Amino acid sequence: MLPLKALLQQKGMSQARLARKVKLSPATIAQLLNKGIWPTNPPRDALQASITAVLTAKGIAVSAAHFEPAPIAEDAEKNHNAQEGIDMLLRKQTLSPQARKHFGLFRDPFDNDVTEASDVFVTPDSRYVREAMWSTAKLGGFIAVAGESGSGKSTLAALLCGLRPPDSGLLLLHGLDKAAWGVQTWRRTVAAAPQFHENYIFSAPFAFNLLMGRRWPPNNEDLQEAEQVCQGLGLGDLLERMPAGLMQMVGETGWRLSHGERSRVFLARALLQEAHVIVLDESFGALDPETLGQCLTYVMQRAPTLVVIAHP
Ligand SMILES: Nc1ncnc2c1ncn2[C@@H]1O[C@H](COP(=O)(O)OP(=O)(O)O)[C@@H](O)[C@H]1O
Ligand SMILES: [Mg+2]
Repeated sequence: MLPLKALLQQKGMSQARLARKVKLSPATIAQLLNKGIWPTNPPRDALQASITAVLTAKGIAVSAAHFEPAPIAEDAEKNHNAQEGIDMLLRKQTLSPQARKHFGLFRDPFDNDVTEASDVFVTPDSRYVREAMWSTAKLGGFIAVAGESGSGKSTLAALLCGLRPPDSGLLLLHGLDKAAWGVQTWRRTVAAAPQFHENYIFSAPFAFNLLMGRRWPPNNEDLQEAEQVCQGLGLGDLLERMPAGLMQMVGETGWRLSHGERSRVFLARALLQEAHVIVLDESFGALDPETLGQCLTYVMQRAPTLVVIAHP
């Protein structure tokens, strides 16, 4: 706003009258007085001179300062600063773990990361599960799912892997659903190692059984990594025992693997697939406690986002 506007009001001169005198439309004068927007024609100097002349003729003293935008009013500035202060405080706010638990809040409510209505209106239980899985996925973390037989653990695994479509709701990966990613990409991105009796060892080289989710034939790096993962999962001894090492034929007609070995091959397969999410559905069932500990530690180190399903 130009100070000229206040001056006119003070001296009892209407904007319309000024407009008539300087031969401009009232709208043009309003633009100028309210917003400081000068018309392109006449040029600013000429218009300022003619307004000054009109007002001076009426005995109204006017100076160049009346044509410069007024500095932001003090209280407006105060409000602005106050708002900034509130924003800054909000950024610094955090909730205590007790408060988060009480209100079932897992994300920081002071961040604007609520993106859809269903982020807000869900039952506490489903909210808990969703939020836990969301944070796990976001942070590349680890989530353990425990539940009695028949409680739906394997169903959850099948949903995550895209083997089963959800009855309702949307399952999103990096914000897109399976239809958008395509089945192939989804399955490549979310790898599962099901219970060992629900999985297969193919009559093929050992390396094929490890790297089939990545590519075949493999390159040298793939083979080196496969060997590393075998070591990490305690399959180093097995590799040494097999005469052809990674190229040993395994399966029905070849080297028969024990249950414990098979389940670790499935773990290795999931790890080597370079998936973003790895779902282990009771994958450790056939392992003795010591091997289980070693494998779990290794998998937790290597897997990006890990969902481990187990009995309570
Ligand atoms: N197609 C289906 N329709 C309805 N219920 C099913 C179907 N398939 C499995 N179920 C049931 O869903 C429940 C959850 O199964 P599941 O996810 O395998 O449990 P968990 O892995 O926790 O033992 C079981 O009671 C099972 O019988
Ligand atoms: Mg199950």
